[in-house]
Amino acid sequence: MDILEDSAYYLESYAAFVSQHNKFNNLLELTESVFVEDVVKQLNTEETNIRMLGIGSSSGRIEIPFIKQLLNRFPNIENTVVEPSADAIVAYQSSIKGKWNNVKFSWFNGTFQQYREQLESAGNDQKFHHINMVDSIYYVDNVEDDILFMYDKLEKGGIMLIVVQSDQCVMYKLKQQYPSLSPNITQLCSTSITDICKTNQIPFHLHHQESYGDITGLFSLDGLTRNEKLLLDFWTEMKDFKKQVPESLYKEVITFIKSPKCSKEIEGKLMVNTDNDMILIKKQD
Ligand SMILES: C[S@@+](CC[C@H](N)C(=O)[O-])C[C@H]1O[C@@H](n2cnc3c(N)ncnc32)[C@H](O)[C@@H]1O
Repeated sequence: MDILEDSAYYLESYAAFVSQHNKFNNLLELTESVFVEDVVKQLNTEETNIRMLGIGSSSGRIEIPFIKQLLNRFPNIENTVVEPSADAIVAYQSSIKGKWNNVKFSWFNGTFQQYREQLESAGNDQKFHHINMVDSIYYVDNVEDDILFMYDKLEKGGIMLIVVQSDQCVMYKLKQQYPSLSPNITQLCSTSITDICKTNQIPFHLHHQESYGDITGLFSLDGLTRNEKLLLDFWTEMKDFKKQVPESLYKEVITFIKSPKCSKEIEGKLMVNTDNDMILIKKQD
């Protein structure tokens, strides 16, 4: 089963991935550096009330720090959150309860595709000063057409941020090596996005962020702990990966993850590549 079909399980596996690899702290550091320098300071607008759009925002774990940084410059924000998991929206709403009077939220509990359809059928041409897609671009239907759609939704002087795995990241490597594991989820890495930008003459800036997660001692071939199972299911994007595939394929995938194609030894530890790239797209004035 495709992991996205069980959204509660997907969120749990994503949380395991984030905590195992210190990903949240990495992204928080990037929020305080790259996001501040390349989004907050570079947004070109005279408006004090800015509109932002988060696509696949989940529980707001990353988006809430974005909002905090934007509030240092802009007194009022209207944020539209597009997120198909109702559980994630409830978690987001509880995190921001009573937090800000000057941030107005609109919640769209559905997919990006449904949101796009709704805007198009209503002839709604609302533009946004900031659009973010953090680790959610994998789930759009037609990445080129959808990026062009989002670019059209940017205000002049506005900035879109796409956070996406690099071509060295374990998840991308697994998709290339075993494309049949989760055929409904697109194989994408930062180069796929920057190629689309180049083809369509969309100016962009790429911030490459090398990162690794410690997998020393994990995934012995005998059995899996709950945490190991969550991690593996997240990477392969299959729920119950171990049960769903033949034993021989399971062993092959574990060996592949630990191989130099995906991992390397750093200071005596086996570290798997979880590179994240930030692509910043600014709409010219
Ligand atoms: C890897 S998580 C990233 C969550 C969040 N941006 C973060 O960085 O913490 C991917 C998110 O995309 C959402 N998602 C899945 N399919 C989607 C779709 N078709 N349209 C929009 N979001 C989707 C998931 O529910 C999940 O919240």
